[in-house]
Amino acid sequence: MLNFVLAESSLELVPKEIWRHPAVVSDARRREAEPGEILLDRSFHHAAMTRLKDSEKRGRPDLVHVTLLSVTGTPLYLDGKVKAYVHLSSGSVVEIAEKTRIPKSYLRFRGLMEKCLVERPASGLLAVRELSFAELIKGVRPGRTIGLSVRGKQVGLAELGREISSVKDPCVVVGGFPHGHFSPEVEERLDEVARIDQRPLEAHVVAARVVYEAEKAASG
Ligand SMILES: C[S@@+](CC[C@H](N)C(=O)[O-])C[C@H]1O[C@@H](n2cnc3c(N)ncnc32)[C@H](O)[C@@H]1O
Repeated sequence: MLNFVLAESSLELVPKEIWRHPAVVSDARRREAEPGEILLDRSFHHAAMTRLKDSEKRGRPDLVHVTLLSVTGTPLYLDGKVKAYVHLSSGSVVEIAEKTRIPKSYLRFRGLMEKCLVERPASGLLAVRELSFAELIKGVRPGRTIGLSVRGKQVGLAELGREISSVKDPCVVVGGFPHGHFSPEVEERLDEVARIDQRPLEAHVVAARVVYEAEKAASG
């Protein structure tokens, strides 16, 4: 089983400290919801986000959506051989049950994630667990944990695919954020950090390529 972790994902409910900001109040009113029940989204809450810590890494649930679609659309995932986790910096993890399909419509995805983060189900297709990144990795017990980053050691994709398929229950970690790098909390749990291109790429491109290489190496 390939474990795919989207780490420090840009996915969260609007944090309490900006509930009263006019940008948040008007968006919540428009959606007929409470500020604490909607996803933080830079497209709507940019003005309110300047006062948030690590603001550049936050408020891009669309990026998480696209990356999950890239992973869950692969043949390896459809065969039940990829387990996907969405790690959130707040100290929780959304665990996606095997073969679960993610809504292709962003609006449906947003609604699903808002419900999930408000209700925090302990089981089901999407389960929310109170886990730090370290606790997640400890529970998954991967044979090797490979982080992907433009700051890593350059590797060929085919070589990376072979390495992934040569260990038991490997774990690949891609950053679920738009800017910045892995925090020390994540970095210290990685056995290695690999770079697949000299340029910074979008998380969904990296995710799709890595899963495809793992798939090829496993079938070849
Ligand atoms: C949009 S990037 C985050 C920006 C960050 N400056 C970067 O490139 O690492 C999202 C994620 O894609 C992955 N990524 C982006 N470019 C990469 C590369 N050239 N090699 C390996 N992974 C990469 C990393 O996991 C990164 O956290």
